[in-house]
Amino acid sequence: VVRTVVRGTGSYLPAETLTNDDLAKFVDTTDEWIVERTGIKERHRAAPGEYTSDLAAEAARRAMAAAGVTADDIDLVVLATATPDNTFPATAVEVQARLGITRGFAYDIQAVCSGFVYALATVDAQIRAGMARRALVIGAETFTRILDWNDRTTCVLFGDGAGAIVVEAAEGEGTMADRGVLASCLRSDGRHKAKLYVDGGPSTTQTAGHLRMEGREVFKHAVGMIADVIEAAFAATGMTAADIDWFVPHQANKRIIDASAKKLGIDAEKVILTVDHHGNTSAASIPLALDAAVRDGRVKPGDVVLLEAMGGGFTWGSVMIRW
Ligand code: ACO
Repeated sequence: VVRTVVRGTGSYLPAETLTNDDLAKFVDTTDEWIVERTGIKERHRAAPGEYTSDLAAEAARRAMAAAGVTADDIDLVVLATATPDNTFPATAVEVQARLGITRGFAYDIQAVCSGFVYALATVDAQIRAGMARRALVIGAETFTRILDWNDRTTCVLFGDGAGAIVVEAAEGEGTMADRGVLASCLRSDGRHKAKLYVDGGPSTTQTAGHLRMEGREVFKHAVGMIADVIEAAFAATGMTAADIDWFVPHQANKRIIDASAKKLGIDAEKVILTVDHHGNTSAASIPLALDAAVRDGRVKPGDVVLLEAMGGGFTWGSVMIRW
């Protein structure tokens, strides 16, 4: 049996941080409002001329260093992003070139905030199918570029960043036997498009457009959808909340995370939280949170780690991994 095992993680945040008080200088908002509704205290913003591919390539370099692999070892690069450098080619191809990877193939995945979960589930399927041996799975975003800074209901929520993991095929023997991706569950429902979307694009307006969101509507659906895919992961593995060592949710909003953990019976001490310092970095939020928890020693080999995300589309999904 081939398993998809995690070998290393990395992440990158742009140097500039914007606190809530920084935003309050040019947006009609307060630190108190933002913290109370979202748990966000600050977010990072890419510098002018710093693109999604730059963030992604740096996160990938750090993941490759942690994994002890070089460009020649990688035969698949999958980049989850809703803020690509260009309409085409895929930003993954740019990252592939930047890292000196010339073997295998590379492509982007577009599932907005669920992008990393979609990417990891897809890479796991491709590795188990024998299409690739060792992959970089990256989530990278520059959401500050698609925010309407005159819309206080959205512009305070998002930030820029990137995270990456190196995964590889393991033949399910010895110590590797019970490690790797244990279950994935992906869902989408396009009837919810109008609740969270970008009002531009190459085929419609020929502009990148701005993010539009009915925040209350998103909130209303989020917890139920998250619980649905986590229960599917529990059913697929025969595990329960008690078996989870670490819960690494998409970091959109602390209230959604707290409500999801509570509904599923996951202890608060098992929840990895970075939304306070990163804001919502869409597809980058889970690998950013994972890298933080690996580097500070919380996530260790053998731990059961549960990832979940929900976002524009709507899309939602979960991945369960034994680290
Ligand atoms: N600062 C101060 N006041 C604000 C701000 C702001 N930045 N934004 C809105 N307000 C005001 C509104 O104008 C409104 O004022 P009013 O009552 O005088 O009309 C009041 O605050 C309440 O507005 P609501 O939109 O009802 O506030 P709510 O409690 O729903 O919180 C929020 C808004 C934080 C967006 C919430 O709905 C939410 O978290 N939704 C989930 C959205 C999300 O996380 N999306 C991320 C993408 S999807 C995903 O990743 C899961």
